[in-house]
Amino acid sequence: MSNIQWDANNYSKNFSYVADYGQALFDLIDQKKGMSCLDLGCGNGRLTVQLKQRGFDVIGMDDSQSQIEKAQEDYPGIPFIKGNACDFSFEKRVDVVFSNAVFHWINKEHQQDMLQCVYRALKPGGQFVFEMGGKGNNALIHESLKRSFEKRGLTYHFPFYFPSIGEYAPLLEKAGLTVQAAFFFDRQTKLDGDDGLEQWIRMFVKKPFEGIDDKETEAIIHEVVEDLRPKLYENGIWYADYVRLRMKAIKKEDH
Ligand code: BEZ
Repeated sequence: MSNIQWDANNYSKNFSYVADYGQALFDLIDQKKGMSCLDLGCGNGRLTVQLKQRGFDVIGMDDSQSQIEKAQEDYPGIPFIKGNACDFSFEKRVDVVFSNAVFHWINKEHQQDMLQCVYRALKPGGQFVFEMGGKGNNALIHESLKRSFEKRGLTYHFPFYFPSIGEYAPLLEKAGLTVQAAFFFDRQTKLDGDDGLEQWIRMFVKKPFEGIDDKETEAIIHEVVEDLRPKLYENGIWYADYVRLRMKAIKKEDH
Protein backbone atom coordinates (compact mmCIF):
# COMPACT_ATOMS: atom_id res chain seq x y z
CA MET A 1 0.00 0.00 0.00
CA SER A 2 2.89 2.32 0.78
CA ASN A 3 5.09 3.67 -2.01
CA ILE A 4 8.52 2.85 -0.58
CA GLN A 5 10.83 0.03 0.49
CA TRP A 6 12.72 1.34 3.52
CA ASP A 7 16.43 1.00 4.23
CA ALA A 8 15.95 1.22 8.02
CA ASN A 9 19.62 1.61 8.99
CA ASN A 10 20.40 4.38 6.51
CA TYR A 11 17.14 6.14 7.45
CA SER A 12 17.95 6.01 11.18
CA LYS A 13 21.51 7.21 10.64
CA ASN A 14 21.05 10.01 8.14
CA PHE A 15 17.44 11.19 8.21
CA SER A 16 16.74 11.59 11.93
CA TYR A 17 15.43 15.13 11.31
CA VAL A 18 12.16 13.54 10.13
CA ALA A 19 11.51 12.41 13.71
CA ASP A 20 13.03 15.55 15.27
CA TYR A 21 10.50 17.73 13.47
CA GLY A 22 7.69 15.39 14.53
CA GLN A 23 8.01 16.57 18.12
CA ALA A 24 5.96 19.73 17.52
CA LEU A 25 3.03 17.42 16.89
CA PHE A 26 3.06 16.23 20.50
CA ASP A 27 1.85 19.66 21.56
CA LEU A 28 -1.42 19.14 19.68
CA ILE A 29 -2.39 16.23 21.91
CA ASP A 30 -4.60 16.99 24.87
CA GLN A 31 -2.95 14.49 27.20
CA LYS A 32 -4.50 12.95 30.29
CA LYS A 33 -2.95 10.41 32.63
CA GLY A 34 -2.87 6.81 31.40
CA MET A 35 -3.92 7.50 27.82
CA SER A 36 -3.26 4.89 25.17
CA CYS A 37 -1.72 5.84 21.82
CA LEU A 38 -1.11 4.19 18.48
CA ASP A 39 1.90 5.50 16.54
CA LEU A 40 0.70 4.77 13.03
CA GLY A 41 3.60 4.28 10.61
CA CYS A 42 6.05 4.36 13.52
CA GLY A 43 9.10 3.62 11.34
CA ASN A 44 12.19 3.13 13.48
CA GLY A 45 10.31 4.02 16.69
CA ARG A 46 12.10 7.31 17.37
CA LEU A 47 8.85 9.11 18.17
CA THR A 48 7.13 6.05 19.67
CA VAL A 49 9.70 5.97 22.47
CA GLN A 50 9.14 9.67 23.12
CA LEU A 51 5.39 9.09 23.37
CA LYS A 52 6.14 6.42 25.96
CA GLN A 53 8.45 8.79 27.85
CA ARG A 54 5.61 11.32 27.89
CA GLY A 55 3.47 8.75 29.71
CA PHE A 56 1.42 7.20 26.93
CA ASP A 57 0.64 3.50 26.89
CA VAL A 58 1.96 3.28 23.37
CA ILE A 59 2.05 0.76 20.55
CA GLY A 60 3.90 1.25 17.25
CA MET A 61 2.71 -0.10 13.93
CA ASP A 62 4.47 -0.04 10.56
CA ASP A 63 4.21 -1.93 7.30
CA SER A 64 7.99 -2.13 6.81
CA GLN A 65 9.54 -5.29 8.25
CA SER A 66 13.01 -3.70 8.36
CA GLN A 67 11.74 -0.62 10.25
CA ILE A 68 9.81 -2.78 12.75
CA GLU A 69 12.86 -4.97 13.37
CA LYS A 70 15.01 -1.87 13.95
CA ALA A 71 12.41 -0.43 16.35
CA GLN A 72 12.15 -3.73 18.28
CA GLU A 73 15.93 -3.92 18.54
CA ASP A 74 16.35 -0.30 19.69
CA TYR A 75 13.33 -0.13 22.04
CA PRO A 76 12.62 -3.63 23.39
CA GLY A 77 10.20 -2.34 26.06
CA ILE A 78 7.64 -1.15 23.50
CA PRO A 79 5.23 -3.34 21.49
CA PHE A 80 5.84 -2.87 17.76
CA ILE A 81 3.74 -4.71 15.22
CA LYS A 82 3.83 -5.04 11.47
CA GLY A 83 0.60 -3.83 9.94
CA ASN A 84 -0.91 -2.06 6.95
CA ALA A 85 -2.26 1.44 7.79
CA CYS A 86 -5.08 0.95 5.28
CA ASP A 87 -6.22 -2.42 6.59
CA PHE A 88 -5.92 -2.89 10.34
CA SER A 89 -8.13 -3.29 13.38
CA PHE A 90 -7.49 -3.54 17.10
CA GLU A 91 -9.60 -5.27 19.70
CA LYS A 92 -8.73 -2.57 22.24
CA ARG A 93 -9.38 0.95 21.01
CA VAL A 94 -7.00 3.82 21.78
CA ASP A 95 -7.32 7.40 23.03
CA VAL A 96 -4.91 8.83 20.46
CA VAL A 97 -3.78 7.93 16.96
CA PHE A 98 -0.55 9.76 16.16
CA SER A 99 1.27 9.78 12.83
CA ASN A 100 4.24 11.70 11.48
CA ALA A 101 5.47 11.83 7.86
CA VAL A 102 3.58 8.74 6.74
CA PHE A 103 0.35 9.48 4.91
CA HIS A 104 1.99 11.06 1.83
CA TRP A 105 3.33 7.56 1.05
CA ILE A 106 -0.23 6.23 0.71
CA ASN A 107 -1.97 6.65 -2.65
CA LYS A 108 -4.89 9.06 -2.76
CA GLU A 109 -7.37 6.24 -3.50
CA HIS A 110 -6.38 4.42 -0.30
CA GLN A 111 -6.57 7.42 2.06
CA GLN A 112 -10.24 6.88 2.89
CA ASP A 113 -9.60 3.23 3.84
CA MET A 114 -6.82 4.38 6.12
CA LEU A 115 -9.01 7.05 7.76
CA GLN A 116 -11.76 4.47 8.27
CA CYS A 117 -9.28 2.23 10.11
CA VAL A 118 -8.19 5.22 12.25
CA TYR A 119 -11.82 5.97 13.10
CA ARG A 120 -12.47 2.37 14.16
CA ALA A 121 -9.25 2.27 16.22
CA LEU A 122 -10.25 5.35 18.27
CA LYS A 123 -12.41 5.42 21.39
CA PRO A 124 -15.26 7.95 21.36
CA GLY A 125 -13.60 11.27 22.22
CA GLY A 126 -10.34 9.97 20.77
CA GLN A 127 -7.82 12.31 19.16
CA PHE A 128 -6.21 11.92 15.76
CA VAL A 129 -3.07 14.02 15.34
CA PHE A 130 -0.88 13.84 12.26
CA GLU A 131 1.54 15.60 9.96
CA MET A 132 2.30 14.85 6.34
CA GLY A 133 3.64 16.54 3.22
CA GLY A 134 1.26 19.26 2.05
CA LYS A 135 0.39 20.45 -1.45
CA GLY A 136 3.56 21.64 -3.20
CA ASN A 137 5.88 19.69 -0.90
CA ASN A 138 9.37 19.43 -2.43
CA ALA A 139 8.02 21.04 -5.60
CA LEU A 140 11.40 22.34 -6.77
CA ILE A 141 12.92 18.86 -6.46
CA HIS A 142 10.07 17.04 -8.19
CA GLU A 143 9.80 19.62 -10.98
CA SER A 144 13.51 19.29 -11.67
CA LEU A 145 13.30 15.47 -11.66
CA LYS A 146 10.32 15.62 -14.02
CA ARG A 147 12.23 17.88 -16.43
CA SER A 148 15.23 15.58 -16.37
CA PHE A 149 13.11 12.46 -16.97
CA GLU A 150 11.14 14.07 -19.80
CA LYS A 151 14.29 15.33 -21.51
CA ARG A 152 15.20 11.64 -21.89
CA GLY A 153 11.76 10.61 -23.09
CA LEU A 154 10.94 9.06 -19.69
CA THR A 155 7.76 9.59 -17.66
CA TYR A 156 8.18 10.80 -14.08
CA HIS A 157 5.59 8.85 -12.08
CA PHE A 158 5.00 11.06 -9.04
CA PRO A 159 4.96 8.72 -6.04
CA PHE A 160 3.39 10.92 -3.35
CA TYR A 161 0.08 12.33 -2.19
CA PHE A 162 0.46 15.90 -0.90
CA PRO A 163 -2.98 17.42 -0.18
CA SER A 164 -4.06 20.91 0.89
CA ILE A 165 -6.19 21.52 4.00
CA GLY A 166 -9.21 22.02 1.73
CA GLU A 167 -8.69 18.66 0.08
CA TYR A 168 -7.95 16.64 3.21
CA ALA A 169 -10.52 18.00 5.68
CA PRO A 170 -13.48 16.50 3.73
CA LEU A 171 -11.81 13.07 3.80
CA LEU A 172 -11.56 13.29 7.59
CA GLU A 173 -15.18 14.38 7.87
CA LYS A 174 -16.33 11.60 5.55
CA ALA A 175 -14.60 9.12 7.88
CA GLY A 176 -16.63 10.50 10.80
CA LEU A 177 -13.87 12.66 12.28
CA THR A 178 -14.35 16.30 13.30
CA VAL A 179 -11.51 18.62 12.30
CA GLN A 180 -10.33 20.64 15.27
CA ALA A 181 -7.09 22.18 13.99
CA ALA A 182 -5.29 22.53 10.67
CA PHE A 183 -1.93 24.11 9.84
CA PHE A 184 -0.25 24.47 6.47
CA PHE A 185 3.24 25.94 6.27
CA ASP A 186 6.57 25.95 4.41
CA ARG A 187 9.56 24.48 6.16
CA GLN A 188 12.97 24.80 4.51
CA THR A 189 14.69 21.70 5.85
CA LYS A 190 18.43 21.39 6.29
CA LEU A 191 19.90 18.21 4.81
CA ASP A 192 23.04 16.57 6.20
CA GLY A 193 26.28 16.52 4.25
CA ASP A 194 27.74 18.06 1.14
CA ASP A 195 25.86 15.45 -0.90
CA GLY A 196 22.64 16.07 1.06
CA LEU A 197 20.30 16.49 -1.89
CA GLU A 198 21.76 13.53 -3.75
CA GLN A 199 21.28 11.31 -0.68
CA TRP A 200 17.77 12.65 -0.15
CA ILE A 201 16.80 11.70 -3.71
CA ARG A 202 18.37 8.24 -3.32
CA MET A 203 16.51 7.63 -0.04
CA PHE A 204 13.08 9.04 -0.88
CA VAL A 205 12.62 8.93 -4.65
CA LYS A 206 13.09 5.26 -5.42
CA LYS A 207 9.96 4.24 -7.28
CA PRO A 208 10.25 6.62 -10.27
CA PHE A 209 13.71 5.15 -11.01
CA GLU A 210 12.48 1.54 -11.18
CA GLY A 211 13.33 0.06 -14.59
CA ILE A 212 15.89 2.79 -15.35
CA ASP A 213 19.49 1.58 -15.62
CA ASP A 214 22.22 2.71 -13.23
CA LYS A 215 23.99 4.94 -15.74
CA GLU A 216 20.87 6.91 -16.59
CA THR A 217 19.86 7.09 -12.90
CA GLU A 218 23.23 8.59 -12.01
CA ALA A 219 23.02 11.07 -14.90
CA ILE A 220 19.54 12.23 -13.81
CA ILE A 221 20.52 12.63 -10.15
CA HIS A 222 23.67 14.55 -11.10
CA GLU A 223 21.71 16.81 -13.44
CA VAL A 224 19.03 17.54 -10.84
CA VAL A 225 21.59 18.30 -8.14
CA GLU A 226 23.35 20.82 -10.40
CA ASP A 227 20.02 22.29 -11.56
CA LEU A 228 18.98 22.91 -7.95
CA ARG A 229 22.32 24.04 -6.55
CA PRO A 230 21.55 27.75 -7.13
CA LYS A 231 18.18 27.39 -5.40
CA LEU A 232 18.69 24.88 -2.59
CA TYR A 233 22.40 25.11 -1.68
CA GLU A 234 23.45 28.00 0.51
CA ASN A 235 26.68 28.58 2.43
CA GLY A 236 27.68 24.94 2.12
CA ILE A 237 24.30 23.57 3.23
CA TRP A 238 21.63 21.78 1.21
CA TYR A 239 17.96 22.45 1.96
CA ALA A 240 14.80 20.66 0.85
CA ASP A 241 11.68 22.73 0.16
CA TYR A 242 9.25 21.02 2.51
CA VAL A 243 5.59 22.03 2.93
CA ARG A 244 3.74 20.60 5.94
CA LEU A 245 0.13 19.74 6.56
CA ARG A 246 -0.50 19.27 10.29
CA MET A 247 -4.00 18.46 11.56
CA LYS A 248 -5.99 17.35 14.56
CA ALA A 249 -9.40 15.64 14.35
CA ILE A 250 -11.68 14.15 16.98
CA LYS A 251 -13.91 11.10 16.99
CA LYS A 252 -16.93 12.53 18.77
CA GLU A 253 -18.96 9.35 19.00
CA ASP A 254 -19.47 5.87 17.56
CA HIS A 255 -21.62 5.51 14.49
C1 BEZ B 1 7.82 14.45 4.03
O1 BEZ B 1 8.04 14.22 5.21
O2 BEZ B 1 7.06 15.34 3.66
C2 BEZ B 1 8.50 13.66 2.99
C3 BEZ B 1 9.68 13.02 3.26
C4 BEZ B 1 10.29 12.30 2.27
C5 BEZ B 1 9.73 12.20 1.04
C6 BEZ B 1 8.55 12.85 0.78
C7 BEZ B 1 7.93 13.58 1.76
